[in-house]
Amino acid sequence: MLESLQTPLQLRGTTVANRIVMSPMSRYFCAGGVPTADVADYYRRRAEGGVGLVITEGVAVDHPVATDNPGIPHLHDAEAHAGWRAVVDAVHGASCPIWPQLWHQGAMWNVEYAGTGTPAGVALRPSGIWGPPDGVISVRPDKRVQSLPETMPMTEEQIADAIDAYARSARRAVAIGFDGIAIHGAHGYLIDSFLWDYTNRRTDRWGGSRSGRARFGAEVVRAIRAAVGETIPIALRISQFKMQDYRAKLAETPDELADLLGPLADAGVDLFDCSQRFFDTPLFDGSLLNLAGWVKKLTGVRSMTVGGVGLGKSGKPALHIDGSQPSDDNLGRVVERFERGEFDLIAVGRSLLNDPGWLRRAMGARDFLPFDPANLERLT
Ligand SMILES: Cc1cc2nc3c(=O)[nH]c(=O)nc-3n(C[C@H](O)[C@H](O)[C@H](O)COP(=O)(O)O)c2cc1C
Repeated sequence: MLESLQTPLQLRGTTVANRIVMSPMSRYFCAGGVPTADVADYYRRRAEGGVGLVITEGVAVDHPVATDNPGIPHLHDAEAHAGWRAVVDAVHGASCPIWPQLWHQGAMWNVEYAGTGTPAGVALRPSGIWGPPDGVISVRPDKRVQSLPETMPMTEEQIADAIDAYARSARRAVAIGFDGIAIHGAHGYLIDSFLWDYTNRRTDRWGGSRSGRARFGAEVVRAIRAAVGETIPIALRISQFKMQDYRAKLAETPDELADLLGPLADAGVDLFDCSQRFFDTPLFDGSLLNLAGWVKKLTGVRSMTVGGVGLGKSGKPALHIDGSQPSDDNLGRVVERFERGEFDLIAVGRSLLNDPGWLRRAMGARDFLPFDPANLERLT
């Protein structure tokens, strides 16, 4: 049933051998920001499990308030470079390409993982606004209360510095041997807080209209392209929902979405990684298309879906880990959507976190392993 997924996809210099991609998942096992041999083995096992592409956990860009947890990896120094080189070699050893997901947490810095050794600093917010006071959240309510007071909007200098940080980190990633660059532009983090009208109230060129709100993300993409050259594919993750409010929406209509995506597509995004909690949820009334479907239709750029592939739907609104258990109920539905051309790639998160051999089981006997929450606390 998954045969149609066994076709390659060329994205600039990267050949993705099949259409299943390991979705970015933060694991916090990189003490001091440096990937260990265990981390390399963890990614190698997923590559050996047959995925077409590994996208790593979020990796801090080279900026003082990019990420808040000391277990999140970075690319800033020789030690981290050596750690990443071992990861890249391990994944390449299984004939699989690997892209890092470059991450700046923006307004969410020091909110999710408070008290875990975060250095001092002030989070970057386009208009000084964190998010709504009453959103559906999975973060600690007291951290939201602490985050709500307005701070200074980002200055032109801060904006330019942040864009440079993405480009610097992307250049280093490619020098290390990564095959492409994934950018985290979703879930209410820095790029998304420019896209989202709730957090971007600017009236200068970085806001003011949907294309203005897309400018920061577009400039990040352009800066990365200039840093990495023409053969390296660039993916950008986007989402309607935010960590500051799972009910939030970037766009209420296809036209609004098109306005936001146009500048990003023009900047040279090769793949939109379209984050949804559940791939089978239509984006707008009147059509079954999901986010990846609309993005591909509106931009013509390749897109990737994600969300609950291989998992039953638990129904809990705002938790990444929500008690969902393996199921083959929806594999047919995701393949049908793929075969209709709705999107080009399918990302899989929790199923692969739980079981590096998940894809082989999905293609074969479907003897799935139960989801074991203990696997969140270790690198199996
Ligand atoms: C433990 C965990 C960590 C995650 N970390 C990230 C991350 O660093 N970057 C990101 O864009 N998404 C992250 N996600 C979201 C996943 O990439 C994926 O979109 C989500 O889990 C839905 O896919 P799934 O239902 O197949 O798990 C994370 C999810 C989980 C479960």
